[in-house]
Amino acid sequence: MIGRLNHVAIVVPDLDKAAAVYRRTLGATVSAPLPLPAHGVTTVFVELPNTKIELLHPLGDASPIAKFLERNPDGGVHHVCYEVADIMAARDRLVAEGARVLGDGQPRNGAHDKPVLFLHPKDFCGTLVEIEQA
Ligand code: CO
Repeated sequence: MIGRLNHVAIVVPDLDKAAAVYRRTLGATVSAPLPLPAHGVTTVFVELPNTKIELLHPLGDASPIAKFLERNPDGGVHHVCYEVADIMAARDRLVAEGARVLGDGQPRNGAHDKPVLFLHPKDFCGTLVEIEQA
């Protein structure tokens, strides 16, 4: 059911430093920081030939990643995002398989303005999984 790896999201304590690591040390193509107030994050997109890395930093008081950074002060991998062709069909299959969908189970538009859902890490090998309708 899942398709391409759309992105890996990494929460970082210092966005400029992290962008420099990817740009200078690793030699990747890195975007300018993009504030996404509706999502409570500022993002730097790292373009790789086969996928993206999203460097995330909390934005505002109610950021959904603030707690993560408290628990992981050096930052760390936050979630992986897999593409699906039909997010409602994907959700129904996952629920039928016993997986837990976070929130109210209704897809919301994510950072790329496409419908996304998040799946409980306990059901997916200890990793928060995002699915995005590509
Ligand atoms: Co994501």
